[in-house]
Amino acid sequence: MTTTTTPIVVLGGGLMGLAIAHQLARCGHAVRVLSRNRNEAAGFVAAGMLAPHAEGLSGQLLTLGQHSLALIPQWVAQIEHDSGLTCGLRMSGIVVPFATEDDSKRYPTAALGQSLNRTALEREIPGLDPRWQAGLLFEQDGQIDNRRQLMRALEKACVSLGVQFLEGADVQALSRHSDTHELHEITLQTAEGEVQHHPCQTAVLCSGAWSQKLVPELPVFPVKGQMLSLQGPRKALKRVIFGPGTYLVPREDGLVVVGATSERNAGFQSGLTPDGQSQLQEGIASLLPEASQWPPMERWWGFRPCTPDQGPLLGEGPIPGLWLATGHHRNGVLLAAITAELISAAVSQREPSRNKTNEWLTQFRWDRF
Ligand code: GLY
Repeated sequence: MTTTTTPIVVLGGGLMGLAIAHQLARCGHAVRVLSRNRNEAAGFVAAGMLAPHAEGLSGQLLTLGQHSLALIPQWVAQIEHDSGLTCGLRMSGIVVPFATEDDSKRYPTAALGQSLNRTALEREIPGLDPRWQAGLLFEQDGQIDNRRQLMRALEKACVSLGVQFLEGADVQALSRHSDTHELHEITLQTAEGEVQHHPCQTAVLCSGAWSQKLVPELPVFPVKGQMLSLQGPRKALKRVIFGPGTYLVPREDGLVVVGATSERNAGFQSGLTPDGQSQLQEGIASLLPEASQWPPMERWWGFRPCTPDQGPLLGEGPIPGLWLATGHHRNGVLLAAITAELISAAVSQREPSRNKTNEWLTQFRWDRF
């Protein structure tokens, strides 16, 4: 393990930034997190599904997701230990419903799920709309209460390990050393309007959908998602339902998180739209008609950081000294554990995992497209 004297700077205080800051601090590094507006972080916006199988991932992204899923219990235990808070991890299983059995057989991860006929579907999801005649149950998938529990627990875990936070910091430039071209300095504007220059040799870019603002070469663009939550009766829904275009994620206390629109043309346009909210209401009615009567509690939106192949950008970036952990699109919560592990191992040059780490980081290089 190597330690540096100037802090490692994490650009972005969302889920990825916090998860990486936490692991780096656990490795003994001094860490400073620069966050522009924590409320914009996708970690507060996502539904918290841990769903490599239910989302129908394939190829290297499926493998990365499966590895992360396997790390999650231990990762959560570390966060809970360091913060004294619970994260709301529930391996509740996820049901993907289909109109016909043939549709279910064609699903990319069908072989990894348990086939359900209509009787079995009704047993798993009482009240499921009759249009769904077949299903796949992925018992290995789950969820975590990212919005109410995980984010706060991670923040507290970081603070307890000495991570410094600068909230309201708008990073304006990353400067390179004139000879070596390595990362040299970060220029930012504080919430009070003061421009500051921070010497920096090692940083991790976790700026999500906004990553291109700092490094224009990165192929990351926003995909807006609108969501809402409903207060259902406790235990009315025990599994997550992952339908086409809409999913219902039941928390322990009966709150059901409903997602999500996927708006590629919205850019960074903020706010709810009647079309987006109607789409969610129609999705709820098509999956679980009784849930249309449950009172809505909150409505919100956010921006997924998407890339051309929908996989993340991990590892060394175009500026020496600047590591990348961005572009996680629909799978940020799932991939936070492995991303934190890979980036902290690479930054710390930790053995014995170095070869495996390098293999993953090569597969998800920023310039692979
Ligand atoms: N992972 C679900 C979503 O991005 O909507």
